[in-house]
Amino acid sequence: MNNLQASLVAERCQRNWNAKKLVSDEHVNEIIKVATNMPTKQNKEYYQLVASTDQTLNRQIYNVAIDDNNDGFKKQFHRNGQVLAPLLLIWLSTNPVGDKFDDSFIEQFQISIGISSGAAALHAASLGYKTGYCCCFKWGIVSSLLKAKGIKLSEQSVGHGLTLGIGHAKTDYRGDVLVDKKIRLSLRNDGVDCNIEKEIMVHKI
Ligand SMILES: Cc1cc2nc3c(=O)[nH]c(=O)nc-3n(C[C@H](O)[C@H](O)[C@H](O)COP(=O)(O)O)c2cc1C
Repeated sequence: MNNLQASLVAERCQRNWNAKKLVSDEHVNEIIKVATNMPTKQNKEYYQLVASTDQTLNRQIYNVAIDDNNDGFKKQFHRNGQVLAPLLLIWLSTNPVGDKFDDSFIEQFQISIGISSGAAALHAASLGYKTGYCCCFKWGIVSSLLKAKGIKLSEQSVGHGLTLGIGHAKTDYRGDVLVDKKIRLSLRNDGVDCNIEKEIMVHKI
């Protein structure tokens, strides 16, 4: 698939996954390389990346992919099924580092994970996978879950992280949320808009 076709896949959010069609190790490593080769300002390490194919962990993270202030999440199953992917990439900040240019660490962290994750999504899509972003989490619990898995996180991580689910679709409609092998809800009837067409203003000079 070329980049133009892949960008149309990456634009959308896949919320159900075929648990039997995994992301190959070769592809996991390739996607990680693409993501982490992307530039950062002064090539500093503003983020760390976790790549989880651990379905128990991904399920635990899905369980906290919620916003307590939003009534839409006050139910047993919620819409962020993208997190239940065979491969879940998680971008988190490093410890804030000083900079002789006085750059804002949080700003550069956010820019860096945008660039990195965009390349990861595009590359995954070009390899034939579907992708789904999520940024809504109880981040403190996500950190605790990762630490419990032995992942050494920065002590002073700042800002919000970002995740990207990668895998193959299970149902024909990407807005179906499949948990424990059943469609638990569908964006069609969950009051969340799907398939919005955006029009970015572009100026060609
Ligand atoms: C950076 C980023 C963060 C996102 N976070 C969430 C999220 O927390 N919850 C959610 O339901 N969708 C999230 N999405 C999915 C977008 O809302 C979705 O990509 C958009 O609606 C277009 O895809 P669709 O047509 O499949 O809905 C996120 C997307 C991006 C790019």
